[in-house]
Amino acid sequence: MLFKNSLSLNSYINNLPRGPVGLVPTMGSIHKGHIKIIRKSLNENLYTIVSIFVNPTQFDEFEDYINYPRDTKADIKILNSINKNILIYTPKSSDLYGDNVQHDLFNFDGLDLIMEGSFRKNHFDGVATVVKKLILKFNPLNIYFGEKDFQQMVIIKNLLVKENLNTNLISCETVRDKSGLALSSRNSRLSEREKIEASLIYKTLEEVKSKFKYLNEKKINEYVYNKLKNTNCKIEYFFILNEETLKPYKKITNHNKYRAFIAVRLGKIRLIDNIKL
Ligand code: PAF
Repeated sequence: MLFKNSLSLNSYINNLPRGPVGLVPTMGSIHKGHIKIIRKSLNENLYTIVSIFVNPTQFDEFEDYINYPRDTKADIKILNSINKNILIYTPKSSDLYGDNVQHDLFNFDGLDLIMEGSFRKNHFDGVATVVKKLILKFNPLNIYFGEKDFQQMVIIKNLLVKENLNTNLISCETVRDKSGLALSSRNSRLSEREKIEASLIYKTLEEVKSKFKYLNEKKINEYVYNKLKNTNCKIEYFFILNEETLKPYKKITNHNKYRAFIAVRLGKIRLIDNIKL
């Protein structure tokens, strides 16, 4: 069912028996990764809201915002084919932002100053602004995030605590295509040739995982940069960080807590991925 504003969606739910609400925030271009998350929400809640909104305040480059893939009609078709009861929310900017399309400023205890945050100014303020608005509108019991955007997930966890929001964050494993490439709306902008090169990203991360047992960080870094050196994958960053604090690892006491994170530019497209070590 389609709702273009939160008022109509809320009054629809309010006329039905009470039950847990799951919220899956998306920027559209629904792919198999989203579908897995949406199915999880359908299993765990009485109502599942899928929002489709390309949030302007999280883009630092206007060009990236304009070029972000959009096909709401196709998205609605896919969602309806999964389950007719999905509550699809496709707001105009005014429904969320009124006439003040600005991000708020948050303190994420430094979690936003590295990786994506250092390449995309105020990106996470924009993400948190829209996620907080969605939570306040629909008061979901559960909100769903994919591990592909792992830093985003850690920051939203921080937001939920800081803003006393009574919503559980449910994390969902990254879905990959056959080549290992993490599914992302941006993949639709890769050429076939670029897709082949992009599959090197996850292959490299898998090798990092096996080398992490016996090589030090410096050697792993060298390995990663060498591996992608003669390809079109230009590394923006590669880090091994504690997955809760996003702090660099010093002395390894517990391997399970670390994750390798990578961002790569391939032509005009920026791709990110991560792996639990
Ligand atoms: O991950 C995304 O697609 C976006 O950052 C989100 C969470 C929908 C907020 O706009």
